[in-house]
Amino acid sequence: MTQDELKTLVGQAALRYVVPGEIVGVGTGSTVNKFIEALGSLRHQIPGAVSSSLASTERLLALGIRVFDANEVGELAVYIDGADEIDGRGFMIKGGGAALTREKIVAAQSRQFVCIADESKRVRVLGRFPVPVEVIPMAARQISRRFAALGGQALLRLKDGQPLVTDNGQHILDVSGLQIQEPLAFESEVNQWAGVVTVGIFAHQKAAVCLLGTARGVETLSF
Ligand code: 5RP
Repeated sequence: MTQDELKTLVGQAALRYVVPGEIVGVGTGSTVNKFIEALGSLRHQIPGAVSSSLASTERLLALGIRVFDANEVGELAVYIDGADEIDGRGFMIKGGGAALTREKIVAAQSRQFVCIADESKRVRVLGRFPVPVEVIPMAARQISRRFAALGGQALLRLKDGQPLVTDNGQHILDVSGLQIQEPLAFESEVNQWAGVVTVGIFAHQKAAVCLLGTARGVETLSF
């Protein structure tokens, strides 16, 4: 099976976690796009969604799914999103699609995080994928130096030769060379550095379940 087919498989499998009558939290990325396509078939069974990015909002609206502002609604039953890496404890790296801050906000508003991913995302230790960090632009250099002191190399993410600007008007640093043995402590530490908006380690908002697309079908991992 191709990676694209595995993404379709887990996107469809995630439908069984959508609670009829309840608003669903929706992530961002190519795997979530498969979920959004599948969600179209349930659009009459749910009031709508809370979205983690402008890109996902556009796709949801195009399918006739209402999008609520996070402030309009209370706790969500479930948040469905992809990951760049997931380890054996449900800790993740996210933000390859630059939507990490809103993703973490919607995840924090939800009782259960259901991660959908193909098996290439499964790792033993987080850090092979460069860790995305959303930063206030004026702090980018200072934060890069702090990562260098930890052995990481921070690169400003570009789009069309210019710094990428997130949905929140900020920049992204991609930090390679880290091996994150203690994701909870790492997330807590980096998140309190001046100028960090969000670090793309999802340890405090980890997955409760991962639907992993494999050559043998969808494996359900519970953490
Ligand atoms: C976006 C994300 C995505 O969930 C992550 O990058 C995985 O994306 P994809 O499903 O395209 O591999 O965190 O900010």
